[in-house]
Amino acid sequence: MEYSFSTIIEPFRIHSVEPLRMTTALERRQAVQESGFNLFNLHAQDVLIDLLTDSGTGAMSRDQWAAIQHGDESYAGSPSWFRFEAAVKELFPFKHVIPTHQGRAAEKILFSVLGGVGRVVPNNTHFDTTRANVEASGAQAVDLVIAEGREASTWHPFKGNMDVIELEKLLAARRGEVPVVFLTITNNSGGGQPVSLENIRAVSEICHRYDVPFFLDSCRFAENAWFIHEREPGQGDREIADIVREIASLADGMTMSAKKDPFGNIGGWLALNDDDLAESCRTVLILTEGFPTYGGLAGRDLEAIAQGLKEAVQPDYLRYRIRSTAYLGDALDSAGVPVVKPIGGHAVYLDAGALLEHIPALEYPGQALAVALYTSGGIRSCEIGSVMFGRQPDGTEKPAAMELVRLAIPRRTYTQSHIDYVIEVVKAVALNASSLRGYRMIREPRSLRHFTAEFEPLE
Ligand code: F0G
Repeated sequence: MEYSFSTIIEPFRIHSVEPLRMTTALERRQAVQESGFNLFNLHAQDVLIDLLTDSGTGAMSRDQWAAIQHGDESYAGSPSWFRFEAAVKELFPFKHVIPTHQGRAAEKILFSVLGGVGRVVPNNTHFDTTRANVEASGAQAVDLVIAEGREASTWHPFKGNMDVIELEKLLAARRGEVPVVFLTITNNSGGGQPVSLENIRAVSEICHRYDVPFFLDSCRFAENAWFIHEREPGQGDREIADIVREIASLADGMTMSAKKDPFGNIGGWLALNDDDLAESCRTVLILTEGFPTYGGLAGRDLEAIAQGLKEAVQPDYLRYRIRSTAYLGDALDSAGVPVVKPIGGHAVYLDAGALLEHIPALEYPGQALAVALYTSGGIRSCEIGSVMFGRQPDGTEKPAAMELVRLAIPRRTYTQSHIDYVIEVVKAVALNASSLRGYRMIREPRSLRHFTAEFEPLE
């Protein structure tokens, strides 16, 4: 008798553990008050389950720790660099690979060369650092995700897709003013939603017809490729690495945060085909990051990423990864907690706007929910709503498209019982949602305000 079992298990066992520190509700209320009601200001030691981000917080594998021992710290031409470059090109065969200390450094370099006043950069949805780097150059950042991507509960298999009709209109209307078109895979700010291969092909075709370079913001490329494998007709028999290579072949370049799918604690890169653009970018790299064969990273980090890239495209890992995120989302959905659907790859997004209808957008319902999850159960999440996106480049404040709270799942880090606990806490807070109150921002930095703003609860 051959059995077949449906439980999808963690495809690893635990080899080294880190203790978690239990706190009381009283301690947490004090901690959050001292942090100005901004969870970024907490001491991580006061957090029980940290779902602030999936960035740099994954567990490295035995083989990554072993690779770290091979780190060669030569200033130039280290063997670690050549292993890193080969691992990147194995999946993303761009001519030039420019290593950076993290994703936003790659963005800063690229937009300082391509951006500038009068230019406009379209993306399905800019991540906050991407938008900030485009705007810091003087250029305008425009989000052109499909309509379904702006609605929390509409089901669509590829909610991260770009609206290609709007893209073409923009390229026609602003000829010569668009230095690059971006696609973010998966679309983080829009709910961790994937982009279909068909859409990537269509965007590539339009860009090349208008002679505009097409770049990928590819932090979660492996999760995106898994969704293509699972959801797109004709893709189910392909190797994940093969899908990734096809995606790369459609683009002219990419920015990358290696802190996500590649399992780095730090790292990133910019890769591209154009020789002149690469030379300009390398010049900025040497000024701001480091020599082109390490670019702001230690040799050991290059090694960890090279190994991590191989693990990121393993189907057993991706099946577990995507299923375990859906496990959290489906449980909350069945309990009636409003979540963005379908469940994304790296995170579950709670719809705070729907759950806390009594709190106006500019009293920050997402912030209220995030603070309540922390004080109630020690869970740290991240507001993705009007706190993050409300301040406009012209200085006015306006509500974001959605008021979300992101529960980002670090890779290979928490077990199913940790997630069962998270489900219990979210359900309890949701049940008492009507008792939550909004917040007023009492200190606001000029840019990327969500990181350091301070708040006061409203009566
Ligand atoms: N692009 C996307 C889509 C991202 O999600 C991030 C980071 C970056 C670029 C910037 O990369 O952090 O290495 O400089 N996202 C993290 C997050 C911070 O929590 O979603 P970075």
